[in-house]
Amino acid sequence: MVYQATASAPVNIACIKYWGKRDTKLILPTNSSLSVTLSQDHLRSTTTSRADPSFSKDRLWLNGKEEEIVAPGRLATCIAELKKMRKELVEDKDASAPKLSTFPVHIASYNNFPTAAGLASSASGFAALVSSLAALYALPCSPSTLSLIARQGSGSACRSLFGGYVAWEQGVLDDGSDSLAVEVAPRSHWPEMHALICVVSDDKKGTSSTSGMQRTVQTSELLQHRIKHVVPKRMKEIEAAIKAKDFDAFAKVTMADSNQFHAVALDTEPPIFYMNDVSRSIIALIVEYNRVAIEKTGKRKAAYTYDAGPNAVIYTLQENVKEIVELIVKYFPQKDGFKDPFQLFAGEGGVGEGRVVEGFNEAVAKKFEVGAVKGLIHTNVGDGPRVLDAE
Ligand code: ADP
Ligand code: DP6
Repeated sequence: MVYQATASAPVNIACIKYWGKRDTKLILPTNSSLSVTLSQDHLRSTTTSRADPSFSKDRLWLNGKEEEIVAPGRLATCIAELKKMRKELVEDKDASAPKLSTFPVHIASYNNFPTAAGLASSASGFAALVSSLAALYALPCSPSTLSLIARQGSGSACRSLFGGYVAWEQGVLDDGSDSLAVEVAPRSHWPEMHALICVVSDDKKGTSSTSGMQRTVQTSELLQHRIKHVVPKRMKEIEAAIKAKDFDAFAKVTMADSNQFHAVALDTEPPIFYMNDVSRSIIALIVEYNRVAIEKTGKRKAAYTYDAGPNAVIYTLQENVKEIVELIVKYFPQKDGFKDPFQLFAGEGGVGEGRVVEGFNEAVAKKFEVGAVKGLIHTNVGDGPRVLDAE
């Protein structure tokens, strides 16, 4: 008998950012957060787990290279928690169930996009790990329950247990049992939401999220203001915007929260800079794009957001994707075209030649061209983890 399961899980990009922990071991955040799950047809982690009594210990290979599993590290904690659930929820209830909780596991995972390059590989990676072990162990658990485990791998990973629009409720309990992900709306509620990831740099990050956010907790007064007076209000606003499919309101709060997250990074001692000149120039481009849109229709058409790195994620509705791609091509040209491994999934006429939008202020636009965008990934809102195979 072979005990093996494979699952894939998506990336998510937050609109209301998680930044700061009140418990670093259990990974309990200082504020709630909310994200959009991106389609795993484009970006995903795929993980296979196998349990076998003949294995000598738990081992994990990431993109073909072995990663050490050190107790009580994050990987070891997730695996131990899932084994415990297998024992309590399956084996203790059914004496005939194989004692998989006592077998060592071998886990192999692949990301189909660059790892640790600011594209949220830890989120899809830990969500895929938890989903594959949960399938292997046949755990009768909801995605929210599994999100409690993924959270202990990487905070943002808990949101990748759902598709669509997802909130991570910070919770108040010391044991973390109420700090979990919940679905705000499924993908099908607002499938027109698309995302363009502008890859400005695929280098490893300067300051990791994990260390950066704790430095912010220790040194930033602005973070305390954000936690108490800003995020609770924004969580309500963005949930209402999503429920009403109000893109203008969604864009306003998403951009404001990205700005404030980078402001608290700057308010850290010593300060942390995640954006570079190209990132800032993309902000200026979207601001000008929205200015023209507001003049014409009274509403914004795009929202930028940046995580702990220089890459921009631009949320927009499907109908605007082509126009924005053309703008990026025009103002951030890549001499040899866009390179692998970043593909453009535009599917609606490719990247084009680069075009301006009618009404653009050319004096403002002159300032955009400060460098190249290395790659563009076009994707949309997607579904939650998929079990591909379990035996
Ligand atoms: P990113 O911006 O890509 O999330 P991080 O530095 O925050 O970068 O996280 C990268 C780390 O996440 C990796 O070093 C690894 O420990 C973990 N990780 C990434 N992908 C996977 C995966 N598929 N399975 C298990 N862990 C993963
Ligand atoms: C800026 O989830 O990577 O992307 O919990 O320490 O693993 P750890 O941090 P991580 O931080 C993500 C920070 C962010 C914002 C977000 O995704 O909400």
